[in-house]
Amino acid sequence: MILPIFLYGSQVLRTRAQEADLSDREGLRQLIADMIETMHHADGCGLAAPQVGVSKRILVVDGDDLSDRFPALKGFHREMINPRFTFESEETCAYEEGCLSIPSVDAEISRPAKIRVRYISPDFEEKEEDFEGFAARMIQHEMDHLDGILFTDHASPIRRKMLTGKLMNITKGKVHTRYRVKTDK
Ligand code: NI
Repeated sequence: MILPIFLYGSQVLRTRAQEADLSDREGLRQLIADMIETMHHADGCGLAAPQVGVSKRILVVDGDDLSDRFPALKGFHREMINPRFTFESEETCAYEEGCLSIPSVDAEISRPAKIRVRYISPDFEEKEEDFEGFAARMIQHEMDHLDGILFTDHASPIRRKMLTGKLMNITKGKVHTRYRVKTDK
């Protein structure tokens, strides 16, 4: 089921999400399936549960559409329940980011170049994996959502200032998207 995506300004995007209850396997599988469908429908490469109004620590990423620019992302996708970093490199790299909750906004964001993440897979197995390149960036962006952090928070002060008007309009729902969105108002 395609779910509406909450826009910048919504409280759920600023709330630290709760650990998912692993005993509700069917509910979690359904939520992940809905999140994947919603992400694909909106042509996104990642989505976190708070973006569909569910304050749980779950994220999905799919880099396949970006494989022209990043060949390593061909067929790359992950679905993570209760992910946490076990390593973040001191080395950082910067690249443009966007977000389905902040349409028509982008900014260059600096993040650790390499990460290691421990998470529960949709098969309910515990995994630990290393990521680098754009895969690491996508996962970090989505993990930020689970802590109520948005990519614009990391933008340079001057870029943030430039975006103030656009962000204000999004808060009011004054933005055009091809996918269904929601605000608190
Ligand atoms: Ni996002």
